[in-house]
Amino acid sequence: MKNKLEQLKDEILKRLNEIKDSSALRDLEVKYLGRKGELTNILRSLADLSIEEKKVVGRISNEIKQELMLRFNEVKAIIEGKESDKGFIDVTLPATKIKNGHLNPITLLQNELEDLFTSMGFMILDGPELESDFYCFEALNIPKTHPARDMQDTFYIDKRNKNGELDMVMRTHTSPVQVRAMQKYGAPFRGIVPGRAFRCEATDAVHEHTFVQMEGLMVGENISITNLIAVMKELLNGVFGKEMEVRVRPGYFPFVEPGFELDIRCTICGGPGCPSCKHSGWLEILPAGMVHPKVLEYGGIDSKKYTGFAFGLGLTRLAMMKYGIGDIRNFNGGDLRFLEQF
Ligand code: PHE
Repeated sequence: MKNKLEQLKDEILKRLNEIKDSSALRDLEVKYLGRKGELTNILRSLADLSIEEKKVVGRISNEIKQELMLRFNEVKAIIEGKESDKGFIDVTLPATKIKNGHLNPITLLQNELEDLFTSMGFMILDGPELESDFYCFEALNIPKTHPARDMQDTFYIDKRNKNGELDMVMRTHTSPVQVRAMQKYGAPFRGIVPGRAFRCEATDAVHEHTFVQMEGLMVGENISITNLIAVMKELLNGVFGKEMEVRVRPGYFPFVEPGFELDIRCTICGGPGCPSCKHSGWLEILPAGMVHPKVLEYGGIDSKKYTGFAFGLGLTRLAMMKYGIGDIRNFNGGDLRFLEQF
């Protein structure tokens, strides 16, 4: 009798391990543990045994029954768990939160300006970040020996041309795309070029080796300084949503004649001076000017017939002004607490 019970137990346990779904489990339960089940039958037949035998076999069979019930419940829980994964969704559970990233403030500003300039008929262009000496300097009227080269601390790439010269640079400004654009599209032309520029700078609150500029170029017949100023005003009013206090100074850039520097009142300190405005109360954000005839010629455009203006907006600096960011190093610092504010 005892052996019979043990055998039955092993058989049931083995079958239990093969069960895959809850209806098979139910069938198995009925077959062995149900009212007419095999184990129940054996337990019933205990009645025919002697009192001594009943005591021993009765205890063993109860133990076996307990053990089997436990195992049944375990298997049941596992199967139900699996089935609920497949088909059942508890819609009352709180949803898993999706963590959204944030756009960098420079990207936000760039998107805004792209909208503003496309509405004025400008196209949006791109250009290589690793640029030739020719487009970065030469074609912008900055010949090899010209002292103006010292205005921009350049990262030269360690690769020499046939003449043994270093002639590839990380572009120091977005201006090389002026000549590329003129060569490709001719005149009349209107376009902006948002993109990164690189300089071998010592880093402080307002200087970084990598920053973002947005070049603007408009070439056509009778384009004058009036057009330049109108577009600049449109730009600044669009960005700040109000009339900005500005000043215009003469500025020297070999690729424009005449050249200007357009400054805005420092929005960090409002005027008295702070590290962001080098204690001057003003921020240089918009160097600009009328395109130098030599540059037009490099672009394949007849400088007798056409004129144009160009500007080189410091997008990084403008983002600092617009959002009141005091330190340029925040942009690429990777601190999420900074980015999550935008
Ligand atoms: N490329 C110049 C700079 O980065 C800025 C500039 C652009 C000036 C266009 C005039 C016209 O310093």
